[in-house]
Amino acid sequence: KKTDNQALVIFGASGDLTERKLIPAVFNLFCGGFLPESYAVIGVSRSEFTDEEYRIKVVFNNEHLKGKSTATEENLERFAKLVFYQAVDTKNIETYGQLKNRLEQLDQEITTKNNYIFYLATPPSLYQTIANGLAENGLNGNTDGWSRLIVEKPFGYDLESAKALNKGLLCSFSEEQIYRIDHYLGKETVQNMFVTRFANSIFEPLWNRNYIHRIEITAAEHVGVEKRGGYYDSSGALRDMIQNHLFQLVALVAMEPPVRPDAESIRNEKLKVFQSLRAYTDQDIKENVIRGQYLNSTVRGEAVKGYREEEGVQDQSKTETYVAMKFFIDNWRWADVPFYIRTGKSMPTRVTEVVIHFKPNHHHLFAHDSSLSNQQNVLVIRIQPNEGILLKFDMKIPGAGFNTEQVNMDFKYDELSNVYVPDAYERLILDCMQGDATLYARGDSTEAAWEFIDPILKAWENDESIPVYGYPAGTWGPENADNLIDGENMNWRYPC
Ligand code: BG6
Repeated sequence: KKTDNQALVIFGASGDLTERKLIPAVFNLFCGGFLPESYAVIGVSRSEFTDEEYRIKVVFNNEHLKGKSTATEENLERFAKLVFYQAVDTKNIETYGQLKNRLEQLDQEITTKNNYIFYLATPPSLYQTIANGLAENGLNGNTDGWSRLIVEKPFGYDLESAKALNKGLLCSFSEEQIYRIDHYLGKETVQNMFVTRFANSIFEPLWNRNYIHRIEITAAEHVGVEKRGGYYDSSGALRDMIQNHLFQLVALVAMEPPVRPDAESIRNEKLKVFQSLRAYTDQDIKENVIRGQYLNSTVRGEAVKGYREEEGVQDQSKTETYVAMKFFIDNWRWADVPFYIRTGKSMPTRVTEVVIHFKPNHHHLFAHDSSLSNQQNVLVIRIQPNEGILLKFDMKIPGAGFNTEQVNMDFKYDELSNVYVPDAYERLILDCMQGDATLYARGDSTEAAWEFIDPILKAWENDESIPVYGYPAGTWGPENADNLIDGENMNWRYPC
């Protein structure tokens, strides 16, 4: 696809995300030859830096560029020339005028053609202020170029604030200009779910309530909240992972085939999934949603802090670091098929996977070990790490009789050794540069996902009787979550 000359303006330029993800992503695009002929990155924040100081900070001294084989002195030098800095006090409308002048000046020097991506890597409380500031200075695409706005998560704090944010942004930018980023959608393996389903005639005919017994999604993290205790304590796993990342996986696994593989068609189908989620009653929430918080423990001989001992976390915090839930999608395809999803910090390992459990045969010809789980075909889509797809199916044990056993058919991405797999941010920024919003969340579906999540947040806030179960750091979360799974001898899959 053609990429217009343009500039990327990053608000929150001295923050962690910029150094850790955004600059490395643009650097990779630069090394891969994906940037247009004229291109600039303009870092914006309150601090005062000269262009040179900023280049030293985010390019030459950036720990996240250092290990890359492409980060040669020559490449870093050439890349640094594309990087500029402008101080803006986002709350002071006059300073946007200075930004505008700087952008116009750069446009004269390097012909970015008044095409801008404004990336909001700031605290969400500033999103609307920045969007207004840009619009009031005519930087919202009313000039002869285009403007796009990338908005980082969290997109809203609950349903009401998400609606207010959408409404507020729409006063300054149109929906087509707003790119709500969810980095899970930039992961190759997540996009491949779409291809697995709709390019293979062996899966899609079975992908429904007639053949699928249940669907399970796990996103486990080995790390705790690390240095983000302050942010995390006012967020929690439901807002941080479920409402966005895990629900995007649910949408991809459950959506109907779109009429075309384009942004609107795909996003229309995803919206319908969120609209079909069976709303929880207060009682359902108690029975189907489990929250937990990690406690201090010793993992492989080392002492690991409990959540409440982490920096920035309140002593009596009730914020959940683990959520497991069971829900239904009330539509033709999924009626009565349970979906089980869970996420947690401080788990035994880092793994994200989608597991499709197929129904067992109606009639068993062959001897089996008695558990139902040994009679079911299972498709495991491993999002990360060890990216790949695993199919479990029955095979005859060699020798007399017809005894069977489950075996694995396993595809691993790293077997495609010479294929370059771009980082999620790299892919998403490139898509936005080319005006392709397919892998970005649309406003209406963000609200529809909140609509389902909001009653859980409210119930947890208001009903003291709903427990926050403790689980020792380094374990798979509260044992009560096992009771969510219906069926004898059935449990979550515990990947190692
Ligand atoms: C972020 C969350 O959006 O996703 C973090 O804020 C989480 O808490 C991270 O650790 C997980 O992303 P990934 O790509 O490592 O699975």
